[in-house]
Amino acid sequence: MPHKDLLDIVSLEREEIEHLLDQAAPFKEIFTRSVKKVPALKGKSVLMLFYEASTRTHSSFEVAAKRLSADVTNFDVAHSSITKGESVRETIETLQAMRSDFIIVRHSRAGLPGNIARLTRASVINAGDGAHAHPTQALLDAFTIKEKFPDPAGKRVLIIGDILHSRVARSTSTILKKLGVEVAYLGPGSLVPKVGPENIRRFTDYAQAMAWSPDIVYLLRVQMERQDVQYFPSLREYHRLYGITEARLAGIRDRGLYIMHPGPVNRGVELCDAVMDYERSLINDQVENGIAVRMAVLYWLKPESVTG
Ligand code: CP
Repeated sequence: MPHKDLLDIVSLEREEIEHLLDQAAPFKEIFTRSVKKVPALKGKSVLMLFYEASTRTHSSFEVAAKRLSADVTNFDVAHSSITKGESVRETIETLQAMRSDFIIVRHSRAGLPGNIARLTRASVINAGDGAHAHPTQALLDAFTIKEKFPDPAGKRVLIIGDILHSRVARSTSTILKKLGVEVAYLGPGSLVPKVGPENIRRFTDYAQAMAWSPDIVYLLRVQMERQDVQYFPSLREYHRLYGITEARLAGIRDRGLYIMHPGPVNRGVELCDAVMDYERSLINDQVENGIAVRMAVLYWLKPESVTG
């Protein structure tokens, strides 16, 4: 059953996740054609409402919508009446007049896309809300992993970094657990919450985490904007303890492990430059797969204006 909105991964059944991932594969195949466009959403309108910076998610949704032949409007938050104090509710009520079929929202406030979804008949897609959820990132991560491991159940993914503040860690570990993947966290004690899912191993030491034998090492972005609070002594120290240094990359290469990162990467912090040329880095695959997965999501959701 298609949903009206996509706000998180928790709300999706495993079968729905499998369906979306299966749907993304033929959309990816379109990228190899000379005409990379299908008429699936011709006449539909997509409103992009990004209150927070984004490169990958924003451009990927825009390309996905255009490849489905939808019309895309970018709401310019910086030059809108929001800068004069207009509330999100007022903005949405005004934007309702545009009768968009899809609204794609990124906001620093957790839960805000859900609030918008209740105010509108359009399908709302959460493109990242605070530390809560980033469902399309999770879907593209799962798709990328399934390209390497078609049956990923039992595979092991080690997520390294700022688990505490990361919507990516939350959504991606949720989808992986739903697919039967084993997940562990590694990071400074201050950034790896002790409470949370019982069935996720937690490590604070790199060597111990690697002894757990992961198949994939998933690096989270260090959120530089949080460095006014000292969660770890310095970026140099973070790189030494948790980063993929040249020496660690050699060990990862010997073991044939894959490396993933949602971007944007901080070179010299989460990883050394050489990771970008590592033959088992899936970072560029993640970006390309993001378009296919977002096409599948746009195609699957049913705005109330469509279902009546
Ligand atoms: N992965 C991700 O959400 O990247 P952006 O912040 O560039 O959208």
